[in-house]
Amino acid sequence: MPKKILVVEDDRASRTMLSKILIKYGHQAAEANNGVQALEKIQKVNPDLIFMDINMPMKDGITTLAEIRQSETFSDIPVIMLTARSDKKTVAKAIELGAVDFLVKPFDTKIVLKKVESFGNAKIEKSWENLKPIQQKMLRLSVASMQNSLKCVEDGKPLPYGEIKETCSYLVESVVEGDVQCLLDAVHDHDNGTFVHSLRVAAILGSFANFKGLGKQDTLEVVTGGMLHDMGKSKIPLTVLNKPGRLTEDEFKIMRKHAEYTMEILRQSPGITPNMVEIGGRHHERMDGTGYPRGLKGEDIGTLGAMAAITDAFEALTAKRPYKNPIPGDESLKIMKSWDGHLDPVLLSQFSDLIHKGL
Ligand SMILES: [Fe+2]
Ligand SMILES: [Fe+2]
Repeated sequence: MPKKILVVEDDRASRTMLSKILIKYGHQAAEANNGVQALEKIQKVNPDLIFMDINMPMKDGITTLAEIRQSETFSDIPVIMLTARSDKKTVAKAIELGAVDFLVKPFDTKIVLKKVESFGNAKIEKSWENLKPIQQKMLRLSVASMQNSLKCVEDGKPLPYGEIKETCSYLVESVVEGDVQCLLDAVHDHDNGTFVHSLRVAAILGSFANFKGLGKQDTLEVVTGGMLHDMGKSKIPLTVLNKPGRLTEDEFKIMRKHAEYTMEILRQSPGITPNMVEIGGRHHERMDGTGYPRGLKGEDIGTLGAMAAITDAFEALTAKRPYKNPIPGDESLKIMKSWDGHLDPVLLSQFSDLIHKGL
């Protein structure tokens, strides 16, 4: 979800460049020329994240950072220092004073977006303190294991299955207790889109499996499949994956490849079962054969693949996206029922009963 980000930088070209990147990817950017202006803007905007230059006139970045850290209201806002490569000593001082990270100029879009994803969610993650301890633990573990998994894919290593399984075992506890809705709400505004979608699909799919009478062990397998079902998205360029508006037909073609990538990644990772591969590889297949990547039809999709397709669509409709408001559950079900021949009607009717009962 869009974040409010303050860019503090005296060099106009750098400031504008960073703001433009942030705005292009759906965030709100406020700007300040120096530390004095920054402290005023923080009061006005209450940003989720601050990017701040070190050397600035009037008040430099280090002094301003120290003042932010001493503030009663704003001390928790993550600050990332903007720096030239040669500034090592000053960066060390900034980290000592509580800067969370630094960003080297000139700015690389991919790195900027990664930093926002890593640090722009501090407020939301803090609000998790209101959840049950086991749910807090699960959410923190799932953020970490999702980031670690994406890193493994980037480095061409197998997925960290042990970590993922541990996260999913905690999630199964919430599923079995019928205590999933609060988790879905707790991650809604988080900025890491793939994490939010994967966790919500895992939780809803797990509830679906549990509702259909699957035991704890089988539910764990389904939840794990749900958590990993879009892993292939890590191979999609961020300009397509994080595009704040609707995709063009060419961009869709690139995006569709994620289902194939997911299967490849899952097949290469030890611990992953064929059922998990089915969930990941078939969640975009459609009963009438119009889906992808294989264009499978009817029973060839398999029960788990068909359940994943229903859950994935429901999550997407009910989710907040930078370009759309969430659609209520009831209305989402109506929309899904109107997609003639796409989703398994028997499973969809069972899913509808689950949603009406409450997750
Ligand atoms: Fe997908
Ligand atoms: Fe998905």
